[in-house]
Amino acid sequence: MTDHLILRPSGEFAGPVDEHTLVLGIETSCDETAAALVLGGYDVASSVVSTQVDIHAQYGGVVPEIASRAHLDMLNPIIARAIVEAGVPDSRIDAIACTIGPGLIGALLVGVSAAKSLALAWDVPFIGVHHHEAHLYAAFLEDPTLEFPLVVLLVSGGHTMLIEMQDHGRYKLLGRTIDDAAGEAFDKVARFLGLGYPGGPAIDREAVHGNPEAIHFPRAMMHEGLDVSFSGLKTSVMNHVRKHPDVSSEDVAASFQAAVVDVLVTKARRAAQQVGAKGLVLAGGVAANSLLREQFLDACVVDGIHGFLPSREMCTDNAAMIAAAGWHRLRSDGPTSLDCGAFPNLKIPGLT
Ligand code: KG4
Ligand code: ZN
Repeated sequence: MTDHLILRPSGEFAGPVDEHTLVLGIETSCDETAAALVLGGYDVASSVVSTQVDIHAQYGGVVPEIASRAHLDMLNPIIARAIVEAGVPDSRIDAIACTIGPGLIGALLVGVSAAKSLALAWDVPFIGVHHHEAHLYAAFLEDPTLEFPLVVLLVSGGHTMLIEMQDHGRYKLLGRTIDDAAGEAFDKVARFLGLGYPGGPAIDREAVHGNPEAIHFPRAMMHEGLDVSFSGLKTSVMNHVRKHPDVSSEDVAASFQAAVVDVLVTKARRAAQQVGAKGLVLAGGVAANSLLREQFLDACVVDGIHGFLPSREMCTDNAAMIAAAGWHRLRSDGPTSLDCGAFPNLKIPGLT
């Protein structure tokens, strides 16, 4: 047992949680198996990610049962590598944070079972982490100077949300998609164009050679509020291609991407202005998109707001963000009970 943290049989916990607290993060909610060690909530000692993209590519999307089995095969070696790369003994680990939801139930259970087993074996606290709360923390790992209130545009395969981080653990949902997530729209349009899986990076690459002004696709709800909608845009792309079978797929990709980015950047700026944000940050897999990154930063310069773009590795699923969010949760709430399960549709704690 470490002398730093004490897990009592009741789950009660006596800190401190401070800059010396070393958290092992584990992430298995979808198709990335990841482990990382983060010191003091901000300092990444190691971060290892094994992606299953190649395994699922042949099926055109993530196959849940295959994802669970791949996590089972990969998780122990990935955790071992994260510990070796951090250059610390197991006994130095003070707590284990793991994604408990949302995600694929079988995939989540692999990580949660491993995390709880290690917590028991090493006699350290277990911390259940919400996957999207962790995405909110990814930026802090690369820019600890970020200040509240902070607006985060979280754009992933399953979610598109504008969230105001008022403080650690206090979030307000400002806007969200009313239908498809941005990543889902990228994936569906890419599949329709025969560009393969995952669709986001494929469209990003294809768009480089296309003209973003070749086709004017609709920007739904552009002038109202902070919610977004991408389902009509996807249908509009399909109708256009069916009507013009010889259209260049590069132009379609570039024009579609321009429409998505236009909407996302407009709404993010509006949200930041509305709450008087001190910073604006991107998070989630779609935040790896080249045009979004470029236009987001340009907009922040024009608006005179502190904009921060996490690296692509930090935008996509990783376990460093899980460990970081876990450190903050351990500090505010203490450990999670070991009878905690996995939750495919978990809501972000502290979100109003
Ligand atoms: O956050 P993430 O890694 O997984 C979750 O959904 O939680 O996000 C994956 C999504 C996929 O829809 C993928 O197509 C999209 O992020 N994506 C991108 C890019 N890279 C990944 N979308 C647009 N452009 C990219 N470069
Ligand atoms: Zn994610």
